[in-house]
Parts: sequence; C-alpha cells; structure tokens
Amino acid sequence: MAENLLEIKDLTLSYGEFKIVTDVNFSVKPGEIVCIAGESGCGKSTLIKAILGIKHLGTQVVNGSIILNGRDITNLSVEERRQILGTEIGYVPQNTRGSFNNIRSYDIQYKETLQCHNQKFDRGEAIKLFKRLNFPDPERLLGHQPWEMSGGMNQRMAIGLAVLQEPKLMLADEATSVLDVTSQKQVIEELAQLRDELGWSILFITHNLGVASHIADKLGVMYAGRMVEYGDIRKVLDDPIHPYTRALLAAIPGKDRKLPVGLEGRPPLDGAEWTGCTFEPRCKHRTEACKTRAYCLKEVEPGHFASCSEGRVKQ
Ligand SMILES: Nc1ncnc2c1ncn2[C@@H]1O[C@H](COP(=O)(O)OP(=O)(O)OP(=O)(O)O)[C@@H](O)[C@H]1O
Ligand SMILES: [Mg+2]
Repeated sequence: MAENLLEIKDLTLSYGEFKIVTDVNFSVKPGEIVCIAGESGCGKSTLIKAILGIKHLGTQVVNGSIILNGRDITNLSVEERRQILGTEIGYVPQNTRGSFNNIRSYDIQYKETLQCHNQKFDRGEAIKLFKRLNFPDPERLLGHQPWEMSGGMNQRMAIGLAVLQEPKLMLADEATSVLDVTSQKQVIEELAQLRDELGWSILFITHNLGVASHIADKLGVMYAGRMVEYGDIRKVLDDPIHPYTRALLAAIPGKDRKLPVGLEGRPPLDGAEWTGCTFEPRCKHRTEACKTRAYCLKEVEPGHFASCSEGRVKQ
C-alpha cells in the first residue's frame, strides 16, 4: 500500500466559470482520520464531490490531481469510476434519507446495491460486522424500512451499507450534523471504530470543531476555497495559527451563557477575482501588506501549516 491512501495535489475546482476550490494540498494516510472544517460555502462538499468524481455533480477539475492508493483517479472514465465507488471509496452524505428507497427494507436495498458491484450480501456476516460496530439489534434493523427509523438510525444504516463494501477510504460529508447530540456521539464513535477495528481512513467534513476534536488525527481549515491551516488536530486546536482558525474557535458556544463571538462580514463571492488575502477584510490583525500578499501555506512548525501567522498569540 502507498504511504498515503489519498493525496490531493494542487487541486483547483470550479463550477463552470466559478472557481470554488484553489490549490488545495493534503493527504490521508492509511488508518488516519482527517477532518476538514470551515464556514458554509467554503468548498468542503465540492472537494468531496471531486474525489467521488461523479460527472453529473458538475464539479470540474481545473488543475491538480487526486491520487488514491498510488493511482491517479482524477480523470477516470464512467466505468472505471463505477468500479471504485463503493468498493474503494465509501460515501456517507449529510442527509441519508434520500440515499434509500423509503418503503423497501434495508436488507433488500443492501442486497441490490452489492449486486451492482458484483458482491454478495451475506446477512450473517453483516450482522456480525454491525455487532462489532455496536449497532443496536442489527438482526431486527435489517428488516426495517427507512420510513420507520429515526434520522440517527437511518444515518447508521447508510454507514452500514458503505461499511459492507469494505472501502478503505470513507468520505463522510457532515454525516452527523442533522443528528441530535446523543445520536451524533454514537455515530462518531462508530466511525472512529472503523479506523480502530478495521484500520480504515476517513475524510470527515464538519462545521463542528467539537466533533473534529473527538474523532480526527488531522484538521484542515478551509476559507473561501483555500486551505488556510492544516496539521495535527491537537496542534491546530490548542495553538491555532491563522486568524480565521482562531475566529472559528472563538465562535464555539461556551457553557458560560455568553453569546459566542461571531465572525463579522462574509467571505468573497464565488469566483471573485481577488488580490492578496481573501480573509483580510474580516481579519482583526490585518495590515497593509495583507492586501497584496500572495497565498502560501507554510510549515510554521513541524507538521503544522498555516497561510498566515499575523497576530499570533502564544498561550
Ligand atoms: N452544482 C453547483 N453549481 C454551481 N455552484 C455550486 C454548485 N454546488 C455548490 N456550488 C457553490 O460552490 C460554493 C461551495 O459550495 P460547497 O457546497 O462546496 O460548500 P460547503 O463548504 O460544503 O458548504 P456547507 O458547509 O454549507 O455544506 C457555494 O458558494 C455554492 O453555492
Ligand atoms: Mg457542504
């Protein structure tokens, strides 16, 4: 196996003329959980859509490459793509209600999906695996239909389907954000078990840095389509470098009944031409130089990258 299961190299993505993701670089090692966080609209799902590479999702690769286990999958044909989706790359979307037919039992839908990938659905093996992942009462669950289930259970059954095909890389786009905190915790623990028990890698997209701190080994913070900070989760959360990461952390609600410090202003519009730092208009540490300084993700300390360290305060 290659050193990195997934490598994203200089990736720039667009929808038609609108450039959404610019020059993104990161990798996911075997058995690693990498979280990507950032404000709504910064391009997180666009990145996931590009890795899935499904043409009708509309994401275009303008530049760069996506390497899966040493193989360049940036421009696969529809048939080549079909062969890796499900079996090498699993996907759990934000809202899994639309992933299932509401009035057919999970076991029938599992069987049909696996057949599409020339795999057989083995009910006994599925139950064994689900028990290992602490799914409650999997024998009964498999016979249920999605409309009978809570959002949390349905989300788990979607994870279950992805798990059955044994992809080594799981893409989870906001897989827990529609859930209440109890179901969120259970789903996160189940995903973490995929790594702990089965050695899988997960690319996990979330708005919630609390969720990220629970599950991730690495954290990437995106702003306006660029990775502005990236590194070991503890380094990024305990000693954030970029002013945007620090602002995001300050926006987490506390228990002290005070309102979190929100972020004034808005990110630039999709595809806007921009000179200098895109965060500059909203940054409380901005200087004149920021208006023209070109983006560059630097290794500020070993394994901890940031595109800006203006105003950094050591705790
Ligand atoms: N199919 C599409 N065609 C055109 N523009 C799109 C399309 N999908 C997304 N966009 C635009 O691309 C930008 C990034 O969207 P994306 O869904 O990647 O953001 P995100 O970071 O996942 O946001 P959220 O946290 O709300 O899910 C948004 O401004 C969005 O309007
Ligand atoms: Mg999204």
